[in-house]
Amino acid sequence: MPAADRADRADRPEEPGMSAAQDSAVPRGVIVTGGGTGIGRATARAFADRGDRVLVVGRTAATLAGTAEGHPGISVLVADLTAPDAPRAVTEAALDSCGRIDVLVNNAASGGFAALADVQPKAARDQLDSNLLAPLLLTRQTLDALAADGGGTVLNIGSAGALGRRAWPENGVYGAAKAGLDFLTRTWAVELAPRGIRVLGLAPGVIDTGIGERSGMPPEAYAGFLREIATRVPLGRVGRPEDIAWWAVQLTDPRAAYATGAVLAVDGGLSLT
Ligand SMILES: NC(=O)c1ccc[n+]([C@@H]2O[C@H](COP(=O)([O-])OP(=O)(O)OC[C@H]3O[C@@H](n4cnc5c(N)ncnc54)[C@H](OP(=O)(O)O)[C@@H]3O)[C@@H](O)[C@H]2O)c1
Repeated sequence: MPAADRADRADRPEEPGMSAAQDSAVPRGVIVTGGGTGIGRATARAFADRGDRVLVVGRTAATLAGTAEGHPGISVLVADLTAPDAPRAVTEAALDSCGRIDVLVNNAASGGFAALADVQPKAARDQLDSNLLAPLLLTRQTLDALAADGGGTVLNIGSAGALGRRAWPENGVYGAAKAGLDFLTRTWAVELAPRGIRVLGLAPGVIDTGIGERSGMPPEAYAGFLREIATRVPLGRVGRPEDIAWWAVQLTDPRAAYATGAVLAVDGGLSLT
C-alpha cells in the first residue's frame, strides 16, 4: 500500500459498520480477468498491494502463477471466459478465495487484425465472444455479490482507439467490441445505480504489453509500431501497464463514489490528436 494511503487511513477515525463498498480501508474482493499478463497483471498487483484479495482469471496457468508470485493476496483460476460455465465458475471461485466481490475488472480480450474483406467468420465470432459477450455474461453473474454489501464497482477495459467517432481500419471487429463495451458501461450504470453498483470504463491508449505480438504482429513490426506511436503521443511515450493499473484502483475506490457511467481515456493524449 502506498505510504500516502497508509497515512490517510491512519488519520481517519474508526467507523464501525462501514463496508468495503463504502470505506477504502476495508479490504475488498476483486476479480481481474486476463490477469496473467500486461495490464491485468499490473492491475491485480496494484489491488493486492493495497491489501485487497484478488482472483485473476485466464487460460494460461503459468502466467497467472507469475502474477501471484510474491503476492499472497492473489489467487488464480484457469478458465476460458467464453466457456458456458465460466461466469458461474469465476463467481464461485472469487467468493471462495476472496469471501466477497466488490470489484469486477473486465480486462481480458484478444486482438486480431483484418480488413472487412479478410474477416474470417470464426475469428470474428471468437473475438466478439471474448471481448463483448464474456464480460456481459460474467457481470450478469456477479450482480448479486456486487450488490450484497452496499454496492460494488464494475470496471470495463475498453480502448481509446474506439472512442467517439473514430474509425479503425483493419481493426473493425476489435473496435466494435470495445465501442459496444463502452455502450454497456453507460447502460449498466443507469440500470444498476438503484442497486448501488457503479460501472465505469477505462480506455487505454497504446500500452507496451506485447498485445501486438499476441494479435499476430511480428516482434519487429510491434516494436516499430510502438516507436512510431511514441512520436505521435502528446505526452511523448507509449503507456506502461502501471499507468492503467493506478487508474483502475482509483476509479473503483469508494471515495470515487459519485462517478458512474464515465469512460476515462488514459492515452497520453493520443486520442485528441
Ligand atoms: N496494450 C494496449 O495497447 C491496449 C490498448 C487499448 C486497450 N487494451 C485493452 O487492455 C486489456 C488488456 O490488454 P493487454 O495489452 O494487457 O493484453 P494481454 O497482455 O494480451 O492481456 C489479455 C489477457 O486476456 C486473457 N484472455 C484473452 N482471452 C481470454 C479468454 N477467452 N478467457 C480468459 N482469458 C482470456 C489473456 O490470457 P490467456 O491468453 O492466457 O487466456 C491475457 O492475459 C484488453 O482489454 C485490451 O483490449 C490494450
